[in-house]
Amino acid sequence: MSATLEPDATLRATTGPDHLVNVRDLTKYFPIREGVLQRVTGHVKAVDGVSFDIHRGETVGLVGESGCGKTTLGRCIAGLMSPTSGGVYFGMDHDSVDRLDAQLGLPFDKRNEGEIAAIDHRHRIDMMPHAAWRTYRRNCQVVFQDAFSSLNPRQLVIDIVGRPLRIHKEASGTALIERVVELLENVGLGRQHLYRYPHQFSGGQRQRISIARALALDPEFIVLDEPTSALDVSVQAQILNLLHELQQQYRLTYLFISHDLGVVQHMSDRIIVMYLGRISEIGRSDEIFEAPRHPYTQALLAANPALEVTDETIRLPGSVPDPSDPPQGCRFHTRCPVVIERCGWGVSDALRILETRGHLLDNLKAANKHTPFDGDLAFDTAEEAEAVAAELGSDATPEPMRRACELLEVRATSVHLRYTPVDDMSVSGVGTEHQTACILYNGGHKD
Ligand SMILES: Nc1ncnc2c1ncn2[C@@H]1O[C@H](COP(=O)(O)OP(=O)(O)OP(=O)(O)O)[C@@H](O)[C@H]1O
Ligand code: SF4
Ligand SMILES: [Mg+2]
Repeated sequence: MSATLEPDATLRATTGPDHLVNVRDLTKYFPIREGVLQRVTGHVKAVDGVSFDIHRGETVGLVGESGCGKTTLGRCIAGLMSPTSGGVYFGMDHDSVDRLDAQLGLPFDKRNEGEIAAIDHRHRIDMMPHAAWRTYRRNCQVVFQDAFSSLNPRQLVIDIVGRPLRIHKEASGTALIERVVELLENVGLGRQHLYRYPHQFSGGQRQRISIARALALDPEFIVLDEPTSALDVSVQAQILNLLHELQQQYRLTYLFISHDLGVVQHMSDRIIVMYLGRISEIGRSDEIFEAPRHPYTQALLAANPALEVTDETIRLPGSVPDPSDPPQGCRFHTRCPVVIERCGWGVSDALRILETRGHLLDNLKAANKHTPFDGDLAFDTAEEAEAVAAELGSDATPEPMRRACELLEVRATSVHLRYTPVDDMSVSGVGTEHQTACILYNGGHKD
């Protein structure tokens, strides 16, 4: 199971006629290539089974540590990148959303592929007819963090901001110049800036130019990928205020990507917290900040001094695991301060613990994983295997992991391991429009 919204009442409650974009089971894997022949040896699972809705006129904040997949998700939604599987849907009515979710909720062999294909053909951005796709590309614009590299240094502002108008044959000649002036004035610049190059502006002004360009085709929806992260705090506030004013003026919808929780809190109606390619929590901004449920969200909030909720008792140890080999079960279990035995311990955890005691791994000949939860570690001698088994059964190994261990046995020169298998964690409801992917709340029972 992936971290998806179930096609149940919870999902339907969030999908009214006002929804603009629906993301369903979206994955994006990047191949890892090695050697002279550039063979694919694995995949970075940047986004791994994500589903949510964006409603007209709202700002959805997307937060998470570096590398958790925020930009990749934003690019897939904007149509700048094709997903590996799953889809981004645009312009679905309530009935289509219900029908699609009903189908996606069924096992593969029970789905009505014809019905899914009909919806995909009309609404899935990578499958819709070209004219509809062009409408989506006009409707959905992107503003990137680094305005300097996203603006062509050899082009004048008139060409940068006027380009979308020219490409879409919206205006030319004097009309184009006047429209660009209007766009510049909307973002606090003016006619005097038309014939200057990007390097002649400050960072904040360059971001204003990017925003003017994004507004050129009168979009409904803008993906803002860390739009203020590269700016000084005072300039940040000005740009955030500008974005807020533009949203009111043009009834814009934003997907606001940031690792800065303070900024996200200020901007967002709803918030999605991502961890290693998956959604760990999603809900209304006030609920997420006042009553975060997922231990990861709690740790993120506690660690953020700007939020004045700093709690030294909740720490976020270590770094984000490798997205090409994410932990099984709950992806956060390797760092979770309240981890329990059913969170997904497995053979990789045993190897991780042994890695911290380097000498125990020195003699490892092979690690065979039959499943993520079941495997054997081969050594040269029985003594080496005994030492490893002793370590994995000792206090040096976290207690929940020891409790999850169903088999820890030395046979000849190998250590055989088996841990309680668990499914991937999927989100479940913990309140109105509030969902989290944590076993402590799964199915409504708290351990
Ligand atoms: N084009 C690419 N090819 C291979 N791997 C990629 C590519 N783009 C992103 N990745 C990897 O995918 C994962 C997610 O990256 P992404 O940029 O989406 O994260 P992010 O949450 O936006 O991080 P940050 O906060 O640093 O911007 C990372 O491990 C990254 O290295
Ligand atoms: S399921 Fe919940 S308790 Fe378990 S590791 Fe994940 S976040 Fe922590
Ligand atoms: Mg990013």
